[in-house]
Amino acid sequence: MKFFVDTADTADIRELAATGLLDGVTTNPTLIHKSGRKFMEVVEEICGIVDGPVSAEVVALDHETMMKEAEILRKIADNVCIKVPLTIDGLKTCKALTDEGTLVNVTLCFSANQALLAAKAGASFISPFVGRHDDNGFDGLKLIEDIRLIYDNYQFDTEILAASLRHPIHVLECAKIGADVITAPPAVIKMLSKHVLTDKGLEGFAADWAKTGQTII
Ligand code: E4P
Repeated sequence: MKFFVDTADTADIRELAATGLLDGVTTNPTLIHKSGRKFMEVVEEICGIVDGPVSAEVVALDHETMMKEAEILRKIADNVCIKVPLTIDGLKTCKALTDEGTLVNVTLCFSANQALLAAKAGASFISPFVGRHDDNGFDGLKLIEDIRLIYDNYQFDTEILAASLRHPIHVLECAKIGADVITAPPAVIKMLSKHVLTDKGLEGFAADWAKTGQTII
């Protein structure tokens, strides 16, 4: 399973990239706003930190303008992945871009039927939003399960990029279902390494090691 981080904070991206765990990055207009930085500049910096796909989202709602925005965004770097919304215009844009060999992430997916359309439009990634689905009284993980089943039924190549993940259980369940990729905030990815018994064990070893009076270096 690939790990993407969902942020435009380059300090966090550098820290995670140094672990070797990071396969890509997802951003969205809200995350760009949060960074307080210029969109193009921050995407260019991120593309220099990670080799994998870096999602940069178009903001237009119509196909023609989406194509113009995508044209500008894809020039930033070879690993830019154009993020388009799951609308008819977004799907049209997805088809045109993937036909030209550009990576496309279709975002704001909230139903398995929408995911089916994205796959038929040749999307490289489909982003079902698990957390936001849960927030609205639906079952976000069931959505991932349904999409996995449908994509496997027809051998679609589109990768399921489970998004809007809020906690480690979301990541664990997505791994069990067989999501191809997860994207989560830096804090959630870091939380995956934590366990109370690991901390307790370390404390015990440190205390006993001190009693030996030895050093390694
Ligand atoms: C995915 O690409 C989105 O940027 C993201 O996962 C949205 O997450 P949120 O619902 O926590 O804002």
